[in-house]
Amino acid sequence: MTEVSRFALECSRTLQGRKGFATIDLYCAPRSRNSFLFLTVGPIMKKSLMHLVCGLSLAIAGAAYAVTGDPVAGESKAAVCAACHGIDGNSAAPTFPKLAGQHADYTAKQLANYKSGDRENAIMMPQAAGLSEQDMADLAAYYATLQTSVGVAGENAAPMGEAIFRAGIPGSNTPACASCHGANGAGIPGAGFPQLSGQHADYVATQLRAYRDGSRATDANAMMRSATKRMTDAEIDAVAAYIQGLF
Ligand code: HEC
Ligand code: HEC
Repeated sequence: MTEVSRFALECSRTLQGRKGFATIDLYCAPRSRNSFLFLTVGPIMKKSLMHLVCGLSLAIAGAAYAVTGDPVAGESKAAVCAACHGIDGNSAAPTFPKLAGQHADYTAKQLANYKSGDRENAIMMPQAAGLSEQDMADLAAYYATLQTSVGVAGENAAPMGEAIFRAGIPGSNTPACASCHGANGAGIPGAGFPQLSGQHADYVATQLRAYRDGSRATDANAMMRSATKRMTDAEIDAVAAYIQGLF
């Protein structure tokens, strides 16, 4: 049992002992790097107060549990990754993603997703299988320190790709990519919105299709699955071509 789930059990036992707290359900998903815990406290007095107290305690326990990455340790662990992802984290082949400059929290989450099988890929699953949580954090911290190489937009990027990125596709309820990934595709570290700028168009287009058909379902609240749901192949290719030249 993880530190967090132990803590949550403790918390639920304490609450159960209290007068007025009829039912407490604890759902714990310790599979991923960040364990998510949901406590439902029975329909009784002081409910919201106890929710708050428990929520805060869990947040603190969660923070203490998160592993801190060491970029120096990550550099030596990345030797095996360089064959595909490049010595400087900028892969040469367009089907291998650039990792340089990517937010550490996003990279570590993807590695955990490959390891758990939540993100299926025949090449990356065995690469991630032997990594510990510390390895993932170190690798992610290392790649975050590298500089993303600048790419060139594909020929079919303008004007459709740019318009989709900045304004979405109003006719099909496709949201503006910039609203989450930022005007320059820098993403938002901590919020789970990855950097996209300079990423290979081939890789980006493959991922957008994978979200669209649901084979990649690593996105919280189906954010990317719903963003791509009504996109056509031509629209996907155009926005991917545009992203490749973004910096
Ligand atoms: C044999 C080639 C190969 C090796 C070696 C390799 N990768 Fe990958 N990596 C890939 C491919 C291909 C993908 C895209 C897979 C997909 O579509 O999900 C990928 C995807 C990733 C992603 C997801 C990137 C994103 O933007 O979501 C991460 C993170 C990653 N690799 C990290 C690593 C690390 C760390 C190592 C070394 C421990 C490593 N890879 C070794 C080929 C490789
Ligand atoms: C509501 C916020 C939101 C919107 C809008 C959004 N994204 Fe995303 N995007 C995310 C999140 C969150 C992830 C990471 C999900 C995961 O962990 O798999 C992501 C991941 C991606 C990835 C995978 C990156 C990688 O390295 O594998 C691509 C490509 C992408 N988005 C492109 C787009 C494009 C193109 C659009 C516009 C059509 C768009 N996104 C709109 C939130 C958003």
